[in-house]
Amino acid sequence: MEILSFQELSRHTVLPFSVYNQEGSLLLKAGETLTPGKLLRLKYVSVLYKHDEALDLDLSLDFDFEDEQIQDFEEEEEEVVITEKNIVINNRFKKDINHIFSKLPELKEPADVKNKLSVFFDARDRILAEVEPAINKIIRASDIRMPVEDKFSHEINVAVLSILVAQKLKLKKSEIEEIALGALLHDIGKIKIPEAITTNFNPNNAQHESIMQLHTHIGYNIIKDDLQLSENTARIAFEHHEKNDGSGYPKGKSGELISLHSQIVSVCNHFDNFVTNANSSYELKSVKDILKKMLNIGSKWFFPNILYSFVHLASYNDTKSLDKI
Ligand SMILES: [Fe+2]
Ligand SMILES: [Fe+2]
Repeated sequence: MEILSFQELSRHTVLPFSVYNQEGSLLLKAGETLTPGKLLRLKYVSVLYKHDEALDLDLSLDFDFEDEQIQDFEEEEEEVVITEKNIVINNRFKKDINHIFSKLPELKEPADVKNKLSVFFDARDRILAEVEPAINKIIRASDIRMPVEDKFSHEINVAVLSILVAQKLKLKKSEIEEIALGALLHDIGKIKIPEAITTNFNPNNAQHESIMQLHTHIGYNIIKDDLQLSENTARIAFEHHEKNDGSGYPKGKSGELISLHSQIVSVCNHFDNFVTNANSSYELKSVKDILKKMLNIGSKWFFPNILYSFVHLASYNDTKSLDKI
């Protein structure tokens, strides 16, 4: 019997081994199809073990979350008890971060960003210091998202969520720092998009959409050339709208051609955008609705491993209504 990481487990559609708990009880049998519900149930098990049973099965990474699996998922979830003590990102932290960002003037040109780069580093370090020790206390996504919609709350939300996912995936400290900075700067290319488009953006207008898409390219150039930050950080700006199946932009990259860092920021960026845009949606009323939607999209847009880590972090049973976060 060998210890099994959750990441390894989540890579399988059909199990090529049996899974046991610490006491040796069988949890899942080799040959079983993994559903999101079964996977999420295993988050309550501290150590998992696998026993290989040579089975010639499909080991593909390609998860598709069918409706019935999502149904199964809902039925299997237990109620999570939430108390005020569970709230991880407290008001003091939110005030501190807003204070750091309030020092930023309007960013119109890369030179403005360059002059204020130390503010972004301060924000990154402040967020890291606050968020790192909190990983095991998180119960629901609504605890870790900034509720106030002001100038930089999207960037801060995406950074906080991305750091937490990166920690959950046990990435190195230096990588987590790059992800945090890349998440804070992922939309920086929008400073060069004409205001007429950013303020009146209409996603159904093809011209608006193609101009807006340029923010990925522009962001990469600002981070790489003007700010002279790392390629890994710049790639986050370039790739955060790419999708696992190749249907994203700017290059239509797919799978492993998209960096792990960009994939993490992509999941968190989508989540935050879904929350922000939920007012104009009839189907999205709670965090749970959004997580369900993201699971339905599944591997078409996201790396399954990252999506699962995110859903684990932000409990699927988070029924808090979106107008309260
Ligand atoms: Fe973006
Ligand atoms: Fe964004």
